[in-house]
Amino acid sequence: MKSFKKLLKLSIAAPFAATLLATSAMADGVVNIYSYRQPELIKPLLDAFTADSGIKTNVLFLDKGLEEKIAEEGANSPADVILTVDIGRIQAAEDKGVTQALANEAINKDIPSQYRDPEGNWFGVTTRARVIYASKERVTQDAITYEELADPKWKGKICTRSGQHVYTIGLIASMIAHHGPEKTEEWLKGVKNNLARKPDGGDREQAKAIFAGECDIALGNTYYVGQMQTNEKNPEQKDWAAAIKVLFPNADDRGTHVNISGMALAKNSPNKENAVKLMEFLASDKGQMLYGEQVFEYPVEPGIKPSDIVQAWGTLKPDPLPLADIAKNRKTASELVDKVAFDEGPAT
Ligand SMILES: [Fe+2]
Repeated sequence: MKSFKKLLKLSIAAPFAATLLATSAMADGVVNIYSYRQPELIKPLLDAFTADSGIKTNVLFLDKGLEEKIAEEGANSPADVILTVDIGRIQAAEDKGVTQALANEAINKDIPSQYRDPEGNWFGVTTRARVIYASKERVTQDAITYEELADPKWKGKICTRSGQHVYTIGLIASMIAHHGPEKTEEWLKGVKNNLARKPDGGDREQAKAIFAGECDIALGNTYYVGQMQTNEKNPEQKDWAAAIKVLFPNADDRGTHVNISGMALAKNSPNKENAVKLMEFLASDKGQMLYGEQVFEYPVEPGIKPSDIVQAWGTLKPDPLPLADIAKNRKTASELVDKVAFDEGPAT
């Protein structure tokens, strides 16, 4: 049994190792990227980096267990740079001890301090906002707050994915940072009581539910709107997107909750110099723009415009709360979700 497991591990690692060898033999320099982001999403960005620097990139895509894999590989890990989304997952990499601190003047100049770890273990390159998808047909208001989601006027009208999903946890953690745990618990109970159904599916399924008339508003990340609007593979998603408008919560006060797509320098990076070059490139205006455009996200540096598709949704005023403060409140947020039994849906 043990040897089978070992074999299995080898067979997974082998194609990547083979690519690594082949590329290292040819190129002056390489950088190995462990990514939670789909390779096709980051390819244009990495191609631009290679064109600029002459450094080749290898991408190992994983949809789970990225930090566990690096930890397991230990001192011999080929990982140079980690690319992932959401402060929860980036923080998980740091907590697992697979990142190293980087103090880099150019990167710190390009990335505002609220979007990076004070110790330099992770950096946000682009942001995504957690917004409200609202029915164009049934919702007349064009402004909203997160606080308002607990207002009984929305009873039976709200859809969302699980309260324990990292995206929801990030939002709840930001509510805790602003209002404290007691008020946030009350709020969460109110939101739960307004749900149209048990939390279920991903963000896109909430837009689908609005399209189908099952709810009027939903919580969702901005980039999914772009993914739905441009989805040639599943064109029915264009209809879901067409049924909704994007409302940016708290635009008139503290701003909308945002999360990050981030990068980190791997603990035992064997090509550290190239890794830092890639991270400098990603942090640069050009890198942020290219990345943002590809994934329908917002560059972190103020003044750099997002793509036309993203701009068409409206203007994002991001909540200036440091992402590190959100990370700190994640555990409490998760406990509150359980405490109010959020995922059981509205009381009947
Ligand atoms: Fe997502």
